[in-house]
Amino acid sequence: MSKIINSLKIGYIGCGHMAQALIRGQINYTKINPSHIFATNRTDGKLIKFASEVKINALKSNEELADQVTIIVLSVKPVDLKLLMEDLTPYLTSKHILISLAAGIKLNDLQKFYPTGRFIRAVPNLPVSIGSGAIGYSCQNNDPSLIAIADEFFGGLGTQYFFENEDNLDAFLVATSSGIGFIYEFMTLFEEWVGEHEFSSETSKQMVLQTFLGATQLALSKPENTFEELQNQVASKKGVTAAGLNALREFELDRVIRLGLDAAQKQNEDFNRILVY
Ligand SMILES: NC(=O)c1ccc[n+]([C@@H]2O[C@H](COP(=O)([O-])OP(=O)(O)OC[C@H]3O[C@@H](n4cnc5c(N)ncnc54)[C@H](OP(=O)(O)O)[C@@H]3O)[C@@H](O)[C@H]2O)c1
Repeated sequence: MSKIINSLKIGYIGCGHMAQALIRGQINYTKINPSHIFATNRTDGKLIKFASEVKINALKSNEELADQVTIIVLSVKPVDLKLLMEDLTPYLTSKHILISLAAGIKLNDLQKFYPTGRFIRAVPNLPVSIGSGAIGYSCQNNDPSLIAIADEFFGGLGTQYFFENEDNLDAFLVATSSGIGFIYEFMTLFEEWVGEHEFSSETSKQMVLQTFLGATQLALSKPENTFEELQNQVASKKGVTAAGLNALREFELDRVIRLGLDAAQKQNEDFNRILVY
């Protein structure tokens, strides 16, 4: 059971996909009392609906939120961060700890908005909502008290990775957060092909899910094997799987995947350039 976190109130500014995933995870897995969680959102429709579903406190302004809470999670898109910080900084005090989820925006740059602030930069991914996330974070000056807070804040939400060197967070984001989107792309393509073979859409989806789940669970159960070794156990020479894999390699699937990962990495870097202080 969390000690520090249970004594602190938490406020989310921006109650979109990632904030909602974190809040669900924290209520169900970190066992944070929903009455300790507060949130605002630019437009209030989805906030009111979500807050009434999970029983957190919906607030009308970031000023009220800063007054109520100690930990403030900046869960807006990177493009909205500058405006948010302009609105928020007049209400910040030395009690606040700021956790930024904004892709690509580095700790140094966050501090330019509020030089006396204590910042954690975190990269969670959506499975935090079911306690199966991958969460990376770095803390300003590697401050042990911030590391302890981050450790508890994300406790129970999945596997945590603390990076002393913040540069690692950017590659982490592409692999684990964007990675989820890439996996769904593969699943969609598999499902489309399966669906062309007279299975119901429900069966097609189930087959894809079971295949991805089985592959992951088998790999987890055999930590001594590399992915390539596991693949060799499926793909006997001149067999069915080998024929398919050969075709994928002929069309340079590796290059296509790299192009996708590199494009995601570039977008992440570009977010840092959109900030003008
Ligand atoms: N989604 C992911 O998988 C993921 C993974 C890693 C990191 N992140 C990071 O997490 C952050 C949030 O992403 P998201 O996917 O959750 O985006 P999202 O669904 O668009 O949510 C962002 C929310 O912020 C609200 N907002 C914008 N400015 C505001 C302000 N000044 N005050 C209060 N609320 C404000 C928006 O309100 P409206 O409803 O009015 O637009 C929106 O609901 C981003 O910085 C992203 O880089 C996301």
